[in-house]
Amino acid sequence: MSALLEVRDLQVAYGHIEAVQGIGFVVHAGEIRTLVGANGAGKSTTLLALSGLVRPKSGSIRFDGVDITRLPTHQIVERGLVQVAEGRAILTTLTVRENLELGAYRRHRGGQGRAAIASDLERVLALFPRLHERIDGLAGNLSGGEQQMLAIGRALLARPRLLLLDEPSMGLAPIIVQDIFRKLREINAEGLTVFLVEQNVRQALKIAQHGYVLETGRIVLDGSGAALLNDPKVLAAYMGG
Ligand SMILES: Nc1ncnc2c1ncn2[C@@H]1O[C@H](COP(=O)(O)OP(=O)(O)O)[C@@H](O)[C@H]1O
Ligand SMILES: [Mg+2]
Repeated sequence: MSALLEVRDLQVAYGHIEAVQGIGFVVHAGEIRTLVGANGAGKSTTLLALSGLVRPKSGSIRFDGVDITRLPTHQIVERGLVQVAEGRAILTTLTVRENLELGAYRRHRGGQGRAAIASDLERVLALFPRLHERIDGLAGNLSGGEQQMLAIGRALLARPRLLLLDEPSMGLAPIIVQDIFRKLREINAEGLTVFLVEQNVRQALKIAQHGYVLETGRIVLDGSGAALLNDPKVLAAYMGG
């Protein structure tokens, strides 16, 4: 299987803080792959580097065979690498519909057909019926779980080929987290490749075919989701024994 995303020896520093210390990983087309780790491990920094939002000190990032390491963010997005940022970043004073339309902004500019965008919007609303019900309400009035769904829906409207998610479970009750992760599975079953960054190690490994464990900027374990779920080191460090 050829890798859709291939990261080699990625190093990122903020001044003297070596947030990511030479990591390598791949994501294959069609799978859900996860990078899990505690707060401060370097997960967000890794995703920011993939999207061109921080500049790596060294290393390379290849997406679909093309070196994107030094590309500006908008070109990375145009190639189909789309991120749902940590903390969701929806626009609370705009409506649900307006937030979703922002996801398709570049496609409008690129002259892509309104019909294609409208049909993608329909698919997103079918996937998230709660967003459909509240389509003309303010995004700020949505619950935390609904806001996360909106952030995912907005990313889907950019037509990703690889969807990056930074801790979609953050601040949500366990039952809502399960709901969100079920949706990720559905999206993946429709053919979208997913790279999920999570502190919720158990839930992430449950839905991922493959996972990496990140500790203070280094990948310390690498294996199938099922194998990592049963790994005594993972159980001890991330699941309370
Ligand atoms: N903008 C920043 N400036 C300085 N240090 C940062 C910045 N962002 C993150 N860090 C540090 O880099 C390390 C990794 O952070 P981060 O990638 O946010 O981890 P995670 O997403 O796994 O919680 C931490 O030590 C954090 O304090
Ligand atoms: Mg983070």
